[in-house]
Amino acid sequence: MQKRYGRITGWGAYTPSKVVTNHDLEQALDTSHEWIVQRTGICARHVAAPGETTATMSTEAGRRALAKADLDAADLDLIIVATSTPDHLTPPVSSQVQHALGAANVPAFVLVTGCTGFMYALATAQQFIAGGMYQRILIIGAELLSRHIDWTDRATCVLFGDAAGAVVMEATAVPCGVFGFDLGSDGSGAAHIIAPAAGTAEPVSATTFAEGRQFIRMNGREVFKFATRVIGRSCQASLTQAELSLDEVDWIIPHQANLRIIQSAAKSMKVPLDRFYINLEKYANTSAASIPLALCEGLDSGVIQPTDTLLLVSFGAGLTWASAVLQMEPVAAKLMSRLTAVNGVNGQYKNGVKTAVPL
Ligand code: COA
Repeated sequence: MQKRYGRITGWGAYTPSKVVTNHDLEQALDTSHEWIVQRTGICARHVAAPGETTATMSTEAGRRALAKADLDAADLDLIIVATSTPDHLTPPVSSQVQHALGAANVPAFVLVTGCTGFMYALATAQQFIAGGMYQRILIIGAELLSRHIDWTDRATCVLFGDAAGAVVMEATAVPCGVFGFDLGSDGSGAAHIIAPAAGTAEPVSATTFAEGRQFIRMNGREVFKFATRVIGRSCQASLTQAELSLDEVDWIIPHQANLRIIQSAAKSMKVPLDRFYINLEKYANTSAASIPLALCEGLDSGVIQPTDTLLLVSFGAGLTWASAVLQMEPVAAKLMSRLTAVNGVNGQYKNGVKTAVPL
């Protein structure tokens, strides 16, 4: 069988319109804008309005990604929704999204690995395409954590935000897409990010409810240490698989949890901080939505070019980690754009492919 690659042909994100700033939180909590910024880099977060759910946010992000890819929902072969905060325990939120998009009978499933969910979904989609099973896959990372945090717990509630981000991956014979990925899990650290009574282990009761055990609890220090340990290691594993060096990467898109974690990773990887795409100051940690949200923003603003070589890296509950080397445009387009830069020839995009035009 001819080798098949998964090309990202569309992307789209959704954030709720309501913004809660650190100054807003100061009014309700014993915290300060300065403390939050100094410890995390976060200034604001978007919070879903009543009526907005993980399904509605996912559907909107999915619609935008499909429009960019110029595809109808009915053209899809598969939908993956990465989230830890579905609308209901059952039905799976992926089926709600599939129905709302109008993707009649298209298979859909939920993938739950905490903040790394989108990355696990990206690797899964790439495997379905490389194996020849599917041609067009919608991958969504969505999280509505504002309904799973205790808004009186200053150690957690300042950290999170709500959002959804999506990409469309389509099969092509031209080399592009995910060239290497690394996934990992260490369940011995499970207790470091946990909602103790939000599952079967501790059925919700008056006692668990009174103690707020349905909310997310976190051992921030341990998570911090874990994240700084795995980021560089995982990036190196993906780069080795892709047969690339860090110098060949244009942008590192890290999970947007905490600026100090990113600074520490940059230092240990010996990469200048300005090669990390960072937008956590506006959105806080949106968990499974964080990487697609950053990717979409970077592409839409023109800061990230579709010809750039990207290194995506995430970490979170489980504990889990994941990274991937992503080349959105076919490698030939990247080489051509480098050549045109060298030869003083402008490039222009046609159907998402960079073509050279003489000056
Ligand atoms: N405002 C003001 N003070 C706060 C606060 C807040 N929002 N949150 C915690 N504090 C206080 C604590 O109560 C503690 O006070 P004490 O010394 O009187 O007991 C003090 O600040 C230090 O708390 P600590 O938890 O040790 O702070 P820290 O330097 O570890 O920073 C985090 C806390 C959460 C910012 C940091 O550990 C972190 O970012 N960890 C990673 C979390 C993460 O990214 N999780 C998501 C992974 S997907």
